[in-house]
Amino acid sequence: MQDTLERLRASIASVYLGNTRAIDRLLVCLLARGHCLIEDVPGVGKTVLANALARSLDCTFSRIQFTPDLLPSDILGVSVYRRETGEFEFKKGPLFANIVLADEINRATPRTQTALLEAMNEASVTVDARTYRLDQPFMLVATQNPSDFEGTYLLPENQLDRFLMRISLGYPAPADEARVLALRPAAGALQSLAPVMRTADVLTLQARTDAARLDRTLIDYIIALATATRRDEELSLGVSPRGALALAQAARATAVLAGRDYVIPEDITQNVGPVCAHRVQSRASLNGSTAETIDRVLSRVMQRVPSPA
Ligand SMILES: Nc1ncnc2c1ncn2[C@@H]1O[C@H](COP(=O)(O)OP(=O)(O)OP(=O)(O)O)[C@@H](O)[C@H]1O
Ligand SMILES: [Mg+2]
Repeated sequence: MQDTLERLRASIASVYLGNTRAIDRLLVCLLARGHCLIEDVPGVGKTVLANALARSLDCTFSRIQFTPDLLPSDILGVSVYRRETGEFEFKKGPLFANIVLADEINRATPRTQTALLEAMNEASVTVDARTYRLDQPFMLVATQNPSDFEGTYLLPENQLDRFLMRISLGYPAPADEARVLALRPAAGALQSLAPVMRTADVLTLQARTDAARLDRTLIDYIIALATATRRDEELSLGVSPRGALALAQAARATAVLAGRDYVIPEDITQNVGPVCAHRVQSRASLNGSTAETIDRVLSRVMQRVPSPA
């Protein structure tokens, strides 16, 4: 199974060049049954990365371009009346896929964004009082632009909290950018990617993640970290129990990705930023330096809370 994971990594890295850490984080989300929000400026490969993941898996994939006029039914599906049978038939929307790319999610209205909540939480969709299960695996990869451009709707806290991680990609190193220019991976390599991992393998890896051992000392460590964010004088909102659960699950998936069946403290610390930063709020949230404040607070919390040996 470890070599299949390695092939998956290599497949994505052949198209999305440079930031292998971002690839690993996306894989952690996949193994942890989590959804991933990729937040970054235009043109740094967000869509390419999400596409590369989907095409490397033997899964169904759909891409939804979020726009201000997108309606919940455009995502979820609609019941249509069939005159021949006199019955309503449900036509599934694009959300019914294993990997769903929700591109530029913050351009849809809050009503449409909210339509995703049930799917993200319970892996089901309710339309006209009937509930439909989504196939497993189900992973939402959403992209959004950080600067609140005109005509965008920032995701509300309750929706942000449903993303296991929020990651950014950053600019590639000059050598990697040179490869992007020389190879033009989005035009070539991406189109010819073939699946390297079966759906069944994804489910096996997810089950392994659930089973990865998390010792009591490490559980206590996660709780101490979460508690410290709740008490921090610079934060008005700390990490919730849902956030602490997410940190534990991300740590388990990180262990499995590294080929272990038990969690070590570094599996936890390296996930604190991507799992927690979007779940807390700084008191000084009106003066533009929110992101820096949160990064500073999270590093301080990690320094203050002793890591188990
Ligand atoms: N690290 C990278 N690896 C591979 N291709 C890259 C990388 N960074 C940028 N690109 C290239 O830049 C172009 C834009 O990429 P993409 O469409 O994924 O950007 P985006 O972040 O989704 O932008 P937007 O926010 O406008 O949707 C593509 O041709 C893509 O191949
Ligand atoms: Mg894009």
